[in-house]
Amino acid sequence: MSTTLIQNGTIVTSAKTFAADIFIENGRIKEIASGLPAENAGKIIDAGGMLILPGGIDVHTHLDMPFGGTTSSDDFETGTKAAAFGGTTSIIDFAIQPKGTRMRDALDTWWKKAENKASIDYGLHMIVTDMPEADLADMDDMVNEGVASFKLFMAYPGVLMVDDATIFRALGQTAKNGALVCMHAENGNVIDLIVQRTLAAGKRAPIYHALTRPTLAEAEAVHRAIALAEMSGAPIYIVHLSSEDALNQVREARDRGLPAFAETCPQYLLLSIEELERPNFEGAKYVFTPPLREKHNLEKLWGGLRDDHLQVVSTDHCPFCFQDQKALGKDDFTKIPNGGPGIENRLQLIHHHGVNQGRISLNRFVELVSTTPAKLFGLYPRKGEVAVGSDADLVIWNPHELHTISAETHHMRVDYSMFEGFEVKGNAKTVLSRGEVIVEHGHFVGRTGRGEYLRRKARGGAWS
Ligand code: URP
Ligand code: ZN
Ligand code: ZN
Repeated sequence: MSTTLIQNGTIVTSAKTFAADIFIENGRIKEIASGLPAENAGKIIDAGGMLILPGGIDVHTHLDMPFGGTTSSDDFETGTKAAAFGGTTSIIDFAIQPKGTRMRDALDTWWKKAENKASIDYGLHMIVTDMPEADLADMDDMVNEGVASFKLFMAYPGVLMVDDATIFRALGQTAKNGALVCMHAENGNVIDLIVQRTLAAGKRAPIYHALTRPTLAEAEAVHRAIALAEMSGAPIYIVHLSSEDALNQVREARDRGLPAFAETCPQYLLLSIEELERPNFEGAKYVFTPPLREKHNLEKLWGGLRDDHLQVVSTDHCPFCFQDQKALGKDDFTKIPNGGPGIENRLQLIHHHGVNQGRISLNRFVELVSTTPAKLFGLYPRKGEVAVGSDADLVIWNPHELHTISAETHHMRVDYSMFEGFEVKGNAKTVLSRGEVIVEHGHFVGRTGRGEYLRRKARGGAWS
């Protein structure tokens, strides 16, 4: 029997902050109380002066993902290790159903990508590219395998985009089976037309990626997605929301009491469209969809997080190396693989720019990066909580540590950082996954392949 006692720390949950010790037995939290005896513990960790948070849950990552003729540069080995360094102990990645195939095959493919590689626990969403009426029961089959959420694309026509009837069909099925549809909401057909006209005018630099994807194309799709969900009686979760226009649509729906949820990502909170104008093609480092927006959007998104119009911060981690992958689009912005790295820096950035800058409380920080992701995606209370019976996925967080984010020191397998030179105060000191220390004082001490597949529960019932 393995046992660990964490002493002298301050526990921070989404609901409260309090001093207590934590006794862990066989990977789970057995007891939380002050002054727990040390003699029963096989291992003792002194968390004096530290905060103890539930492990971060990143519900939007793309490891080992084929895209635009290449593959995201982190696989489940490098990506989950980098996540652990940053205090993330669970991820939910995306399996992709290639058009004309069954989702079961995609699930097998992604299980193979992850098994023996992941060092933290992982779940999978399924990206639906094809959903004929006759195959609708396949969605229930996925739910039975613990895939309690599906991503659909309203963008990327001819590749990932599905039509409104397919979206409506899928939403109808989730209204019955309790799963959650995650929507990439941008009006793909209109964007495609703007892109074709822009290319025809000889405009090929990275900045045109952003200029061809207006915020109204995002807001229109968010509105449509919510309307289709409302007609279906299903909840909806908008992924990587990037603009005030889109946020207004979610707020309006929530004000009407609809089960509409949305996430944003650190890049949309901290970076703006100017990054795409960097010289020497370096703007390509910031090419992802939706694109970075005008600066005035940033504070609106922080306000959305504070006021619960946005419920989750994920990363949309989808790294491509600048030298040999982003370079595919040197002469044509449409050929730049879309995506950016961030799995390692989410907690550091949101703690520093959110909590330290007085935009959100510590408890709200925990809620955004761990507890609500667990609740929405069928992992709660096993994950996302510091409570008796929960997995001992814990981050011993040093709120005073100064850290400079840099590609020189990060652990993601990518040759740049979107946040190069950002100075943050607050960092993960020790990270436990199911009671096992996996990161200690800047070293990975876990084991490749120890991560377990998370069979998530479809939530169903009350969503609001
Ligand atoms: O540009 C992005 N976001 N790449 C990853 C795929 C997606 O749409 O989330
Ligand atoms: Zn997307
Ligand atoms: Zn994504």
